[in-house]
Amino acid sequence: MPETRPHAVFRPDFLDGRVALVTGGGTGICRGITEALLRHGCRAVITSRKADVLARAAAEMTEATGRTCLGVPADVRKPDEVEAAFDRTLEAFGRVDIVINGAAGNFLAPAATLSYNAFRTVMEIDALGTFNVSKAAFTKYLGAHGGNIVNISATLHYKGTPLQTHPGSAKAAVDAMTRHLAVEWGAAGIRVNAIAPGPIDETEGMKRLAPGDVKQKVERQIPLGRFGRIDEIADATLFLVSDAATYITGTVLVVDGGAWMTMSSLVPWE
Ligand code: HXC
Repeated sequence: MPETRPHAVFRPDFLDGRVALVTGGGTGICRGITEALLRHGCRAVITSRKADVLARAAAEMTEATGRTCLGVPADVRKPDEVEAAFDRTLEAFGRVDIVINGAAGNFLAPAATLSYNAFRTVMEIDALGTFNVSKAAFTKYLGAHGGNIVNISATLHYKGTPLQTHPGSAKAAVDAMTRHLAVEWGAAGIRVNAIAPGPIDETEGMKRLAPGDVKQKVERQIPLGRFGRIDEIADATLFLVSDAATYITGTVLVVDGGAWMTMSSLVPWE
């Protein structure tokens, strides 16, 4: 397999004129998604709690793609900060067409010793954060103009992964929310979908969940025989927001090389 695709899959201008807001867009998978959106014509706002990380990522992506990317600090757990991020987006670009709910928190911990606050923290970032951002998006712009929401989910809850009760529960809520919002907001011209990535190389999630030589053990359990790449999640996102997917809403697209069906759910996958 090539390390990256030898050619672009999508026409480089197919998102010309569109604007995206990506939570968690300063790092990892969501930075990759942002860069792909920019490379296909979007302008973008990325949000997270870390102003310095955001500013650097936004400047680097603007430089690399020639399209404007702004970093706007916002904690998805705080509705007023989320609403302010949409206000800033509309002030800068006058519209927002694509919203990626990528902000997430995770660590390995057994449910029995997980503190109440630790469980609540991950639920708040992943599940409540997705609602806060989706509702603000609807109220501020999408409700009147239509658009696309893509939620970044996971496959942890398909089999019940030990040490992952907190993110698995939160992502199950995200999957449900994807369907509920798709049903309620379809008439407004809003498509709401999710992507469930499997093990993806060079992500914070995999650094936390598959450190060191665990990776080789995990790869042997994956039907496609390897970890995924960030650009493969980005391409799935491009597909979902594209005109190739205009009749797709309320779906969770699993992008995991077949991993959830065959991989042990026993983190760290011994
Ligand atoms: C047990 C922990 C812990 C750990 C934090 N806590 N880390 N408990 N084990 N390793 C507890 C704290 O003790 C505290 O509870 C509570 O969680 C909140 O911690 P804070 O540090 O105060 O919270 P905060 O600063 O908001 O940080 C949130 C965070 C942090 C989730 C804890 O790790 C974070 O910001 N992560 C963002 C980046 C990230 O995780 N990316 C990976 C996403 S991967 P007490 O009771 O002490 O107050 C992903 C993919 C999943 O989502 C799918 C993979 C296949």
